[in-house]
This record gives sequence, C-alpha cells and structure tokens, in this order.
Amino acid sequence: MSVRITTPFSATSTAAEVVQGIDLTSRRAVVTGGASGIGVETARALAGAGAEVTLAVRDTAAGDRTAADIIATTGNKAVFVSRLDLADQDSVAAFTADWDGPLHILVNNAGIMASPLMRTPQGWEMQFATNHLGHFALARGLHGALAAAGGARVVSVSSSAHLRSPVVFDDIHFIEREYEPWAAYGQSKTANVLFAVEGTRRWAADGITVNALMPGAIQTNLQRYVSEEELNRLRAQMGGGDFLWKTPEQGAATSVLVATSPLLDGVGGRYFEDCAEAEPNVAGSRRGVAAYALDPAAAQRLWEVTEQTLAA
Ligand SMILES: NC(=O)c1ccc[n+]([C@@H]2O[C@H](COP(=O)([O-])OP(=O)(O)OC[C@H]3O[C@@H](n4cnc5c(N)ncnc54)[C@H](OP(=O)(O)O)[C@@H]3O)[C@@H](O)[C@H]2O)c1
Repeated sequence: MSVRITTPFSATSTAAEVVQGIDLTSRRAVVTGGASGIGVETARALAGAGAEVTLAVRDTAAGDRTAADIIATTGNKAVFVSRLDLADQDSVAAFTADWDGPLHILVNNAGIMASPLMRTPQGWEMQFATNHLGHFALARGLHGALAAAGGARVVSVSSSAHLRSPVVFDDIHFIEREYEPWAAYGQSKTANVLFAVEGTRRWAADGITVNALMPGAIQTNLQRYVSEEELNRLRAQMGGGDFLWKTPEQGAATSVLVATSPLLDGVGGRYFEDCAEAEPNVAGSRRGVAAYALDPAAAQRLWEVTEQTLAA
C-alpha cells in the first residue's frame, strides 16, 4: 500500500499559492478549456510561474481575450491560443499534428456537465465523447511530445460526480438504457480517473505520469445545463449549510498542484481533492474516490475499448 500524499495546502489554497516558488521557465503547458472557469486560473498560475502556455479552446475569440488578460496580469508573453474541439476527432488530430517540440504539462480540463442527450456524428454520447474520448485522443496524439519532455505530467480533471457512476461497459453510449444526464457525467468523470490509472501504467516508462483530481465546487459556465433548483438540491447533498463554493482561483489549485508540485514527482494513477490525495470514498459521502475508479482491470478495459471506439 502506498503512502497517501498530503501537502501543506488545503481546500482554500489558491493556484498562485501552490505554485509559489516553483520555476516553470522553459516548461511548456497546454490547458484545454483554458478560456473559461478554472481553466483560466490554471493557465494564469502556470504562466505566472514562467511556463509557455497554450490555451486549447473551441472559441478562439474567447481564447484571445483570455490570453491577453493573462499576459497583462503575469507579464509572461508566451501565452498562445490554439483551436481544439474535443467532440470532433478531426479537430483533435489537427491540434496534435500542429504541435511541435516537447510538452511538459497537459491539463485535460475542458468539460461539459449534465447536458441533455446529444450525440456526435459517430453516435457517441456527448459527455463521454468530450470529457473522455477527446482528451484520450489528445493525450495519445501528444504522447511523443510528452515523452520528449522527460518527466511530463498529464492532469485529468475529474469530479466527485464520478461517485455517481462507474463506466457502464455494456452500454457506454446509452443505446439500451434510458439517458440520465448525471449518470452520463459521472461515467465520463470515472473514465477521467481510469485514464490516469492506465495512462500511468503504460507511459511511466516514458517519464509520463497521469493523475486525476476533483477541483471542488466552483460557479462557472459548467452549470449552464443545470437549473437553480437542481443546484440547490445538489448543494444540500454536498453538505447543506456547510457547503461553500470555491473561487476559480481556489478551484484551480489542485490542478496546478498536480501539474507542478515536487511532492508528486514520479507519482501517477492517483486521485486528489483539496490539494491532497483523496481517501477512499465512504458510502453516503460525496468525498473521496470510488474503488471502481482506481480499479486497474477496469482502467485497462477502458483503454482498450477507447482505442477500439476511436479506430472504428
Ligand atoms: N465547476 C465545478 O464545480 C466543477 C466541479 C467538479 C469538476 N469540474 C471539472 O472542471 C473542469 C472545468 O470546468 P469549469 O467549472 O471551469 O467549467 P467551464 O467554465 O464551463 O469550462 C469548461 C471549458 O470546457 C470547454 N469545452 C466544453 N466542450 C468542449 C469541447 N467540445 N471542446 C473543447 N472545449 C470544450 C468550454 O468551452 P466553451 O467555453 O467554448 O463552452 C470551457 O472553456 C471540467 O472538466 C469539469 O468537469 C468542475
């Protein structure tokens, strides 16, 4: 049994605090969904520590505005914008084909949550296609660049919503079962954790580690498909009166910690929340990590199923 990783940081730490004293000069990072929500603050903290940062976004006008803002606030001019639509495999392939040179940090941050049933032209359920399949193809396409970096880190932004569903291998795309937006989100977020487990197993020999995390609850554009009434119900589930939203700067902290902290050197296949490795989930609680999300056999199976899906 490995020792659980703890750090001096907590739920209220900010991205700027966790990266303080870490020099990312000459490191190159990609942040998907870097023009909204916690992606902006993740990118800002990495740029503030000296990294070259590419915002991989589907709305490049929003990306340009964010890049200008990050350059203005950090003084780091090496902030770039590149088009990426994770639901479109051609777009992912174009992004990876365009990428040149090593990549030290890949933050798979973009995501959609609890959307109504939507499908890609291939018939893939949209949350799984965006949150998992797109990021899988992106990381796989950038594997050579990550290996070339020597000690690269891939950050897989998951959620406590993974507790809502394992990957249902018999019907990932809701062909037979009735569509349920939260089950689909939960399944995709479990896939983000399983990707960290199997990605580390396969790529650690290339110096690449992959970890997953729960950023916390942060009011962003992510809640666009969720009514106020439903949000209140979720808040009650997550601690009622004790519930506190994090700011985007606090929400980005665990991503930045996982991307940069020396305490995670050589560490992979794990799940973090509130700037520390999570404890196993206890039934009934909305904290911790589900055993099914760290299951090596499920992780390997998901990798194989994903490769078959993308090859079809
Ligand atoms: N906020 C929370 O409470 C919370 C809790 C747990 C986990 N998370 C996770 O944290 C991550 C970031 O969420 P956030 O709260 O910062 O949400 P957000 O503000 O909605 O940001 C999500 C980003 O993903 C992008 N995106 C969506 N679909 C995409 C696609 N097909 N291709 C490329 N980019 C796409 C969005 O782009 P557009 O702006 O173009 O739509 C947006 O920039 C997500 O993975 C989410 O699951 C968030």
